[in-house]
Amino acid sequence: MSGHPSHKAESPDSRESASQLGMVWAQTTKGVIGRGGTMPWHLPEDLKHFSSLTTGHPVIMGRKTWESFPPKYRPLPGRTNIVVTRQEGWAGTPEAEGAVVVSSLDEALLESQFAPGNDHVWIVGGGEIYRQSMGLADVAVVTEIDSDVEGDTYAPELGEHWRRESTDPAEGWLESKNGTKYRIATWRRTED
Ligand SMILES: NC(=O)c1ccc[n+]([C@@H]2O[C@H](COP(=O)([O-])OP(=O)(O)OC[C@H]3O[C@@H](n4cnc5c(N)ncnc54)[C@H](OP(=O)(O)O)[C@@H]3O)[C@@H](O)[C@H]2O)c1
Repeated sequence: MSGHPSHKAESPDSRESASQLGMVWAQTTKGVIGRGGTMPWHLPEDLKHFSSLTTGHPVIMGRKTWESFPPKYRPLPGRTNIVVTRQEGWAGTPEAEGAVVVSSLDEALLESQFAPGNDHVWIVGGGEIYRQSMGLADVAVVTEIDSDVEGDTYAPELGEHWRRESTDPAEGWLESKNGTKYRIATWRRTED
């Protein structure tokens, strides 16, 4: 991680952190990432991809994304789930059970440095949190779904300061068992 003081947070053994900060999301061709508090598609292959990328590492998310997971699926297993909220007292509510609750993105980044697997830290949404992380993250792993479904939450635009490094596959699309076409693009931040 680079370009932000909290990335240099001291780890528990006081060594300088060398974490990589990544963002990961899935979006339609028009940039939709959510609708009505959930994701408006069914793509099991992407859930698997998300899981293999993030398991073993801390994940940081906004309170709305946390609440988009059904209670029986949270916290996301094998990951320290760090949830950001401005609501004082939310940490004491039943909804917060299983989350490490913090009150700012800076605090989330600091907290992540004390979690297992902190060599990679993943920002997992949603729209508000991605937007605030654009100048902080080193990499963005974006599943592009060949769909024009409507939504109410959008991914940030990875334009200036971001370089599209690779896609899987290099050309064309992968195809889900359910016929949905998708591909995974990796973007890297080029400067502050
Ligand atoms: N397609 C994907 O890959 C993907 C991934 C994740 C989420 N999503 C979708 O995205 C949608 C949710 O995204 P969203 O933008 O509405 O919400 P969000 O980013 O998940 O959460 C927003 C909330 O986070 C808290 N927050 C944000 N910035 C903060 C800050 N600087 N300090 C403290 N707290 C802060 C606030 O919580 P309080 O209101 O509690 O103060 C805010 O209301 C859902 O539809 C979800 O399904 C999609």
